Amino acid sequence: MSPALDSYTFVASGKVRDVYQIDDETLLMIASDRISAYDHILSPTIPDKGRILTAMSFFWFEALGVANHLVGGPTDERIPAEYVGRSMVVRKLPMVPVECVARGYLTGSGLLDYRATGSVCGVELPSGLDEADRLPEPIFTPATKAEQGDHDENISFERVAADLGDELAETLRAATLDIYRRGAEVAAERGIILADTKFEFGLDAAGGLVLADEVLTPDSSRYWEAATYRPGEVQPSFDKQIVRNWLTGPDSGWDKAADETPPLLPDDVVARTRARYIEAYEWISRKSFADWPSESE
Ligand SMILES: Nc1ncnc2c1ncn2[C@@H]1O[C@H](COP(=O)(O)OP(=O)(O)OP(=O)(O)O)[C@@H](O)[C@H]1O
Ligand SMILES: [Mg+2]
Repeated sequence: MSPALDSYTFVASGKVRDVYQIDDETLLMIASDRISAYDHILSPTIPDKGRILTAMSFFWFEALGVANHLVGGPTDERIPAEYVGRSMVVRKLPMVPVECVARGYLTGSGLLDYRATGSVCGVELPSGLDEADRLPEPIFTPATKAEQGDHDENISFERVAADLGDELAETLRAATLDIYRRGAEVAAERGIILADTKFEFGLDAAGGLVLADEVLTPDSSRYWEAATYRPGEVQPSFDKQIVRNWLTGPDSGWDKAADETPPLLPDDVVARTRARYIEAYEWISRKSFADWPSESE
């Protein structure tokens, strides 16, 4: 008999995932099919998105080969049957209170900081860089973990060191850049640019870093197609561009600037976005999504 979800203690809901406590040492992280764009959670959901992103996290945890928080596979018996395929059973860890971002390319908040100061999170960069330019080398650009609804705030390495100590700050920077490089290398072999990504680390009993949360999913990373990469302009998002184009295009009637609730996504936008997520998973993992475990009713 599979356990019932209500036999676990609800811990928290993020924009996309829900976290439950299985016991004192163990959490259940369930990825929903919710999708967000421009800071709004959209309706309807994208069928299977949670399963696809969970499959990607499992792929990457294995491919990266660093200590991680998984304590079971995708069909672990602690997962309620109706959540199989979209769940991770993980070791509950004290989390390092910093979002560990690595950037290999300049865009988003990194570009804004660069344009204002010539640096990102205190890392000085050469002058003359433009949107989506590749950086001379990947940089560590930590951010504070914002309360729900707020934006993460970029902080300097010095600030991390002041908050967490020099040693942990150095270790975080080295691990973040190392894992980013490994991920970017694997992605590059598949014709995908891993522009940037965010990791979250927990600490084990000995104070060692454990890669936690989700990892190298399109929700935590920017993936660009290498074949269409054009520095100097905003790159299309591998996964969300269909949704963004529709929302900001003439058919949606949505006023982004007015910050109103976005309209319902049409069926074809949902279907094409779902197909895009599957394509991303299959492209990166070289596995078929049809083989990924699914929930049983
Ligand atoms: N192994 C772990 N042990 C303890 N907490 C973890 C572990 N892995 C991830 N977490 C935490 O679980 C939470 C997952 O929540 P989730 O990412 O869904 O929402 P959020 O971070 O609050 O909001 P957002 O939707 O902006 O990401 C995060 O607070 C994350 O730091
Ligand atoms: Mg989160």
